[in-house]
Amino acid sequence: DNKKAKFTIGFSQCVGSDLWRRTMLEEMKMELSLHPGANFIYEDAGGNSAQQIQQVRRLLDKGIDLLIISPNEARPLTPIVEEVYNRGIPVIIIDRKTASPLYTSYVGADNYQVGKIAGQYISSQATTPVNLIEVMGLPGSSPAIERDRGLTEAIRDNKNVRLKAKVYGNWLKEHAEKQLWKIREQLKDASYIFAQNDVMAAGARNILNKLNLSGSVKVIGVDALPGTGGGLEMVSGKMLNASLLYPTGGKEAIVTAFRILSKEPFSRENNMQSLVIDSSNVQLMKMQWNKINSQQKDIEKQQALLEEQRAVYNSQQVVLNILVIT
Ligand code: FRU
Repeated sequence: DNKKAKFTIGFSQCVGSDLWRRTMLEEMKMELSLHPGANFIYEDAGGNSAQQIQQVRRLLDKGIDLLIISPNEARPLTPIVEEVYNRGIPVIIIDRKTASPLYTSYVGADNYQVGKIAGQYISSQATTPVNLIEVMGLPGSSPAIERDRGLTEAIRDNKNVRLKAKVYGNWLKEHAEKQLWKIREQLKDASYIFAQNDVMAAGARNILNKLNLSGSVKVIGVDALPGTGGGLEMVSGKMLNASLLYPTGGKEAIVTAFRILSKEPFSRENNMQSLVIDSSNVQLMKMQWNKINSQQKDIEKQQALLEEQRAVYNSQQVVLNILVIT
């Protein structure tokens, strides 16, 4: 029997509705299309940790061979992920982490580095004293904690950069806007806002516009997504001064999943590179993405053609069989 084993991969996403996570899912599906035999079960917890725990239980009941998970908050999700791992089911953690070393592989950028690069970028520009405001993600989610640590570390020895205030935007635009509105007095003498993702950075820019402060405050975000509504567009349109690339790791997670499932060598830590995108390189990044995008479209066209030819071939086989029989 040379039939390949049919693997079932379960993916538990903390919240699926934003552009970054829709991009992640698309990247996964693209890679999954190279493994036609595999089952893929996708679940979206809608940003609710309790719901995500239930969702992992359901995936276990369905008999998954491997779990990919992006935990909404680190601590609440730790016991269930440990349980899956201890049952001998491989676990790939993507983007957000649990509070435990019990996982098979991690895929994503190093969020401490992301925060650190942002801090160094601001630091390198601060030749005179500047005030900085940080808009953090969801309390208890690992990128919020790690990006904050990285930022703080990078500016620690620079006397010109003062971190004046921190607010939690919970990764959401409207929430970030509300929190920044509450500290609007402090925005008046700020020079930089570092928001831990681009949607909150866009919210920050809205508030600055309302207060007529946009000319004096630089806004830096994270994600730098290509395409409509993404961070690259926000940087080239001057809504954001810079954004840090935060790769979704969707493709790499699926590649790693199949390595693990077919008992091939894989890395436990798959740290993807980040970099600053600002007016100096945003056009280049957009061009690169357009090129990749058009190549992808070509591949899809070729796949569709192949599919068509396969259908024609199959129907000819049917005709041939009828002729042979009669
Ligand atoms: C999307 C998102 C990204 C951010 C990441 C952190 O849900 O908020 O914008 O970089 O999650 O986990």
